[in-house]
Amino acid sequence: MDLLDLIKTRSSIRTFVDKPVEDDKIAQILEAGRWAPAGGNKQPWRFVVVRDKKKQAEFDPRFHQPWILNAPAIIIVLAAPYDTWEKYDELDQMYIQDVATSTQNILLMTHALGLGAVWVTTFSRKAVRKTLGIPKEFFIQGLVCLGYYDKNAGTEYHGEIIPNKKDRPRRPLNEIAFNGEFGKPWTATPE
Ligand SMILES: Cc1cc2nc3c(=O)[nH]c(=O)nc-3n(C[C@H](O)[C@H](O)[C@H](O)COP(=O)(O)O)c2cc1C
Repeated sequence: MDLLDLIKTRSSIRTFVDKPVEDDKIAQILEAGRWAPAGGNKQPWRFVVVRDKKKQAEFDPRFHQPWILNAPAIIIVLAAPYDTWEKYDELDQMYIQDVATSTQNILLMTHALGLGAVWVTTFSRKAVRKTLGIPKEFFIQGLVCLGYYDKNAGTEYHGEIIPNKKDRPRRPLNEIAFNGEFGKPWTATPE
């Protein structure tokens, strides 16, 4: 599969098959995260792999997104802003971009391995910090729920079924990309 196909066929997967994810697959996914670009190559990310339903049950007391509880594996993505601040101005926020890039690598690698994932940012950071013993100087940016999946499956959430494969339209290129000056639409289409 070429890269554009890989990018376009990835979609958020929220219903998983109850099957463990092998350590070597997780290692490849983490490796993809580790090879993201970062400002000043400071690599201000840390990952905590969780495969423990009892811990996962603590993470989302308010929204109860079932995929957080049911995911065979979760990668908690932490930012280490002090890595960035060693080199750049205090409070520079580029670490947020670095960690987001790493998270996208994680999603794409997961998809390339035939597994599904969803990037989640709505959960209780306080609960995750406490359950996993994460020190204060690391910021909890997000988590990635992942696992094997059936593309025809779905999960009920707030009275609605969220299917694994659903339409997720994108804004047209000529609305979001400009040629030479802002407001002058980019008109060429990809081959
Ligand atoms: C920064 C960010 C935060 C997100 N937070 C959540 C979340 O808390 N819960 C969830 O189910 N999906 C979450 N998503 C997934 C988005 O809903 C999803 O990427 C979007 O609807 C586009 O669908 P696609 O990933 O299938 O292309 C998040 C995605 C991103 C990039």
